[in-house]
Amino acid sequence: MTGPRAHPGVLDIKPYVGGEFGVPGAQDVIRLASNESALGASPKARAAYESVAGELHRYPDGASAALRQAIGRVHGFDPARIVCGAGSDEILSLLGRIYAGPGDEVLYSEYGFLMFKILALAVGAKPVAAPETGYRADIDAILAAVNEHTRIVILANPNNPTGTYLSAGEVRRLRAGLREEILLVIDAAYAEYVDADDYTPGAELVDAGENVVMTRTFSKIYGLAALRLGWCYAPTSVADLLNRVRGPFNVTAAAQAAGEAAVTDAGFIEESRRHNSQWRPWLSDGLAGLGLTVTPSIANFVLAHFEDAGQSAAAADFLKGRNILVRGMVGYGLPQCLRIGVGREEENRLVIETLGDFLKA
Ligand SMILES: Cc1ncc(COP(=O)(O)O)c(C=O)c1O
Repeated sequence: MTGPRAHPGVLDIKPYVGGEFGVPGAQDVIRLASNESALGASPKARAAYESVAGELHRYPDGASAALRQAIGRVHGFDPARIVCGAGSDEILSLLGRIYAGPGDEVLYSEYGFLMFKILALAVGAKPVAAPETGYRADIDAILAAVNEHTRIVILANPNNPTGTYLSAGEVRRLRAGLREEILLVIDAAYAEYVDADDYTPGAELVDAGENVVMTRTFSKIYGLAALRLGWCYAPTSVADLLNRVRGPFNVTAAAQAAGEAAVTDAGFIEESRRHNSQWRPWLSDGLAGLGLTVTPSIANFVLAHFEDAGQSAAAADFLKGRNILVRGMVGYGLPQCLRIGVGREEENRLVIETLGDFLKA
């Protein structure tokens, strides 16, 4: 073989395929395939985004200082321990680069977010998936899969695509069961939607030591997926390493401006949270009313189980034929399932009506 050689893990990566974007020839497509914000972005964030148009020739602030200060103010965190990235995907990948490599293992739960496997393979580490119980991360199974090669354990809480979560006490037990030198990454991309009393995104565990990082995103409740903006709250030592390896201008000026406006627009966040708390149960109940099994979700999407892979693929096609996009789950090893985002009222009603038509046909 000639030419440059990638390290072996890279060749094992199946490129991440996002939710479908559009339906050829169709205008008004209902997009419920990528867990985006049902209500779009805050008008204040849009205005902030537009305000940077005259400065496109300038580099952004490489430290994202004003954005980190705003996040710190809202959440009560020290801005020096916040690192921003081009989506939380970037932060997750950087953590993989810093803490894992060939011979190491990155551990996550069976139906954990697909990027976890990709970030392990990308650095030549071995991805290890611990079995779930009832589509929920199983702490005992994760702890049983830990060995001397384990470097990172990643937990999406709540998880995508299942929508299930672990309580604060359960995550504490997970951390307590891991060796000190193993990094626990808590990916809390959907934290803002959660209304369960026993849930926390995990900041208190970050504060408790040197080995927990919590990642967050602006792609979900803040409605800024297009801008690619995420962040993490980390121990000083981890933040220091992230700042060494990240690109010097990894967050665009537009993302910084819009993010600062979005995170401080408490009214819009509350409206989005209320919308989701009303329509997620409505969507789940509607699907259950059609005879489908729905995994209990606390995020902004639900996982619906069909009879088999054939029926779920046919349902996705039928919905697409009516200009409604949902997410097939073959890549997650759940071909009998579809993940459906919570949309606006009329979108949610149309999904249930259309699936009803499909199941009657
Ligand atoms: C659990 C989870 N983590 C991280 C991300 C990535 O988010 P971002 O857009 O910030 O890269 C997603 C996106 O779907 C997600 O579901």
